[in-house]
Amino acid sequence: MSPISRTIKNTDLETIVSLAKRRGFVFQASEIYGGLGSTWDFGPLGVELKRNVKDMWWKSMIRDRGDIVGLDSAILQSPEVWMASGHVDNFSDPLVECGNCHRRFRADHVELKCPHCDAEKFSEPRQFNLLFKTFMGPVEDDAAVVYLRPETAQGIFINFDNVQTTTRKRIPFGIAQIGKSFRNEVTPGNFIFRTREFEQMEMEFFCKPGTDEEWHRYWIEFSNDWFKQFGLRGDKLKVRAHESDELPHYSKGSSDIEYEFPWGWGELETISNRTDYDLKAHMERSGRDLSFFDDAEKERFIPYVVEPAMGADRSALAFLSDAYDEEGEGKDKRTVLHFHPDIAPVAVAVLPLSRNEKLAPKAAEVYDMVRVHFNAQFDDTQSIGRRYRRQDEIGTPLCVTVDFQTIEEDNAVTIRDRDSMEQIRVPIEGLRQALDEKLNEIREACRG
Ligand code: GAP
Repeated sequence: MSPISRTIKNTDLETIVSLAKRRGFVFQASEIYGGLGSTWDFGPLGVELKRNVKDMWWKSMIRDRGDIVGLDSAILQSPEVWMASGHVDNFSDPLVECGNCHRRFRADHVELKCPHCDAEKFSEPRQFNLLFKTFMGPVEDDAAVVYLRPETAQGIFINFDNVQTTTRKRIPFGIAQIGKSFRNEVTPGNFIFRTREFEQMEMEFFCKPGTDEEWHRYWIEFSNDWFKQFGLRGDKLKVRAHESDELPHYSKGSSDIEYEFPWGWGELETISNRTDYDLKAHMERSGRDLSFFDDAEKERFIPYVVEPAMGADRSALAFLSDAYDEEGEGKDKRTVLHFHPDIAPVAVAVLPLSRNEKLAPKAAEVYDMVRVHFNAQFDDTQSIGRRYRRQDEIGTPLCVTVDFQTIEEDNAVTIRDRDSMEQIRVPIEGLRQALDEKLNEIREACRG
């Protein structure tokens, strides 16, 4: 099967936002109260999409390899964690205020004019710390201040010794975590691209000092391949090494995997060489030994860390934008999402030809059979043509149709391919295998 091409090379963001709302991928959070800035709720299809992104990442990092284990650490940690990590002192963005409308922007996000009122007068930049603060317990004083984590990574560093001793992993090995992070971003925007509450998928790979550069190259390549494996087009991805003045405070070298979003290139993932910065910082502040003893070499050292850090919401947006296409003309025109089958919110839709009592029992039987193995949806409303279009628009790779021939003649169904729109007829007893084979073909064709 040849790779899936697109009629539309670059979609505009408005089209994606409108589809996302119309079909239940993403809703404005607190919508009935007028919304809350830059917060979003993932609807029934969006939650499946993001879950698939996270599941595929977890599978690639942990289930498919033997050298990485998982963790789910607390969002609220001792404030000491963020003092040691440098976030209390250094995790800030330069902020400027417009001299006319007094709105505030990230200095590196504005050029000459105020994006709101076009004035050309700005204050001098000052540093604005991005940590969200709250209070733990009933007294709201300085002693009760805790921070919502701005990255999942620190939960991993402070558990390095717990995980290493309980799993008996030898270096090199990694610890992966998926979870919510919070940043009081000065200028959030571009839908779910930059928000104040988001999910990260991070892995800290602990290695011997001196091997870190090689591992850094390895994880950059791995990450770039990962996005292509699950369908992002290779020509819309690039690797960009950070300039020295944009490196995070903990990093010796960082590279971003960038994707060409509807508004231009934007960061999907950063792969950083964090050296022994974090383990050392926590050793110094906590007084606990976080070094590693290599029995084979009889030497003790503080591991270096290479970190691929990816955003789940941003990746979901990239998969959604990349999958989008409009094909055909006139009455044959359709909107289609060419999702990779492992990313698609629904893998198989079961559609009786019409809502007819003779078809209903067989259609229900087929649906029950299919949904055990695949993320499936049943739909018997409106005409079959409209239902195909609806499934195309949410990116369902395969539709199974139960018709009168099924019940009267051959106990077979048709499988319709989302991308080619071709249909094949298969006996119900061989349906599962046929669906597996078709999904594999689509997986291959989706590879970017
Ligand atoms: N632990 C390293 C770290 O957090 P980062 O580059 O600041 O590195 C990693 O964040 C990834 O998290 C980013 O590449 C992006 O995908 C996602 N991310 C960061 N800030 C975000 C935000 N405000 N909204 C949505 N995603 C964000």
